[in-house]
Amino acid sequence: MRYVPKKNLQAGHKLASDLFINRNRVLLRKGMSLTDSLVRKIDILGFQGLYIDDDVSKDLYIEEIISPELKLKTKNGLQSFFYSAENNNVSQIKGQINTIKYLVRDIVDEVLHHRQIMINIIDLRAYDDYTYSHSLNVAVLSVVMGSVLGMNQKTLFALAMGALLHDTGKMFIDKQILNKPGLLTPEEFEEIKKHSELGFQYLCKNVDVPEDSKISALHHHEQYNGGGYPNGLAQENIHIFGRIICVADVYDALTSDRPYRKAFLPSDAIEYIMSEYNNKFDPVVVKALTRKVAPYPIGTCLKLSTGDIGIVVKNFESTILRPLVKLIINKKATNHYIDLSNDRSALNITIKEIIDC
Ligand SMILES: [Fe+2]
Repeated sequence: MRYVPKKNLQAGHKLASDLFINRNRVLLRKGMSLTDSLVRKIDILGFQGLYIDDDVSKDLYIEEIISPELKLKTKNGLQSFFYSAENNNVSQIKGQINTIKYLVRDIVDEVLHHRQIMINIIDLRAYDDYTYSHSLNVAVLSVVMGSVLGMNQKTLFALAMGALLHDTGKMFIDKQILNKPGLLTPEEFEEIKKHSELGFQYLCKNVDVPEDSKISALHHHEQYNGGGYPNGLAQENIHIFGRIICVADVYDALTSDRPYRKAFLPSDAIEYIMSEYNNKFDPVVVKALTRKVAPYPIGTCLKLSTGDIGIVVKNFESTILRPLVKLIINKKATNHYIDLSNDRSALNITIKEIIDC
């Protein structure tokens, strides 16, 4: 299977996995072929692309770091909790948070179980689903980085909890400002900035989670150079959870379509984050991200400096910019590979661009 962005989807492409229209309803089943009207519908619903099966990707298997069932349950759990927070249903919260705690333990277990694989976070999500998918992705990315940094299971649990709930304060911000498609005025931005403090206060008052998880909500928009909010904290004065969640938050937001801009490619998002190494972002955290998140995920088609076209079949933690590539000729996969990391004869070959194969 391989991921195809929506601009390259065509009638006849065969789905490699189920596509959910929301957290419970399947829109399209694995194995179905796309039609022109389905391609249009996918665009309207806000999906960024799909996994498809075709000849060039027939031997590729993309291993998910956490199971689709766990993703779905966590998004449902979060939706219930956010609804209660927004509507001041305090009596419901204890049970909802207990459910989320069980799910968070499973998330940590699954991430640790898959600790050898690189992340291919391309989540198939519609516009409606953004808040829950984003919180979940931030949690998974944060736990992956925390595990690279050597955190134990108990600490990872608190980190995941903080990451899932980091934007709780947005439930108390005017939806018109929050979902505004254009640029925010300075006054509107000041309103949005309140969500860190509001979320922290809400968690302190109503939610039984570790202290460090609550502080995550307060610190996730602080920047390593002191330029963030609400308190302009710098370096180690920002809780390590805040420094991790900040990077995960930016990576996932950049790689998502938003009402005001198109999604960045993973390679462009990583390049941006690396450009802020030791400036906006903690260098230790950036290093952890770049060990586990592939700029060219499995299934990405590349044009090489030799003119060859290939599909990424494997990434290496130590050299994330130089994957193992299977050559494609006349839109057919061959049995020839170029190992950009380990083939001595390939050392002078560079990646020119990402293309559709
Ligand atoms: Fe936030």
